[in-house]
Amino acid sequence: MLAPFVCLFILLGTACAQFVPGTDTGCSVTPGDVLGPYYVPGTPASRTMCLGTSDDDYMFVKGTVYDVHCHPVHGASVEVWQADKTGLYYDDRCRVQFTADRQGKFSFVTTLPGKYLLGYYYRPAHIHYRVTAPGYREVVTQLYFTHDDSLGANDPCDTCNSGSAELIMDVRAPTADDLVQIAQLVTFPVNKVVEFNPVMGH
Ligand SMILES: [Fe+2]
Repeated sequence: MLAPFVCLFILLGTACAQFVPGTDTGCSVTPGDVLGPYYVPGTPASRTMCLGTSDDDYMFVKGTVYDVHCHPVHGASVEVWQADKTGLYYDDRCRVQFTADRQGKFSFVTTLPGKYLLGYYYRPAHIHYRVTAPGYREVVTQLYFTHDDSLGANDPCDTCNSGSAELIMDVRAPTADDLVQIAQLVTFPVNKVVEFNPVMGH
């Protein structure tokens, strides 16, 4: 009588392992991307960055760090950095690091990154990520946004990965639950939400 229960457990486990909110690809290792010249070790710990005026275009970025079995990687270190709204990098103002919680979850508030020229063309707006955890290979990548006309073949960075569907996420309006979480971080309005779930391999 044990076998059916084992099979049921395996079947349910398989079904669960294929479902990850916010991704279409399950738990494949997140594609890598160029680290870029603006990575600085020793990033300050914070869950807000690139704060300017209350009129800026703010965004709540949330995610869960998973392993390839779709189990959360609790305690993963997440470093993020980006250009400010004008497309300029500032060493301290637009880079932070934080630790994923026991469910692998993390979130932060930032401004929508500006696009910057590389040669004659604009790179797509993006946020750089470096995710590390003991026993896992680091994930160095970039998060992009749908409806950006500089993605893929239009990206002047030949070695970048902005054509990878796993790195291009929708921007949506906040849900009631998002608004509760946003209110724990900032007191000004945040009208955009992006979800991105890094997946780490061994
Ligand atoms: Fe960049």
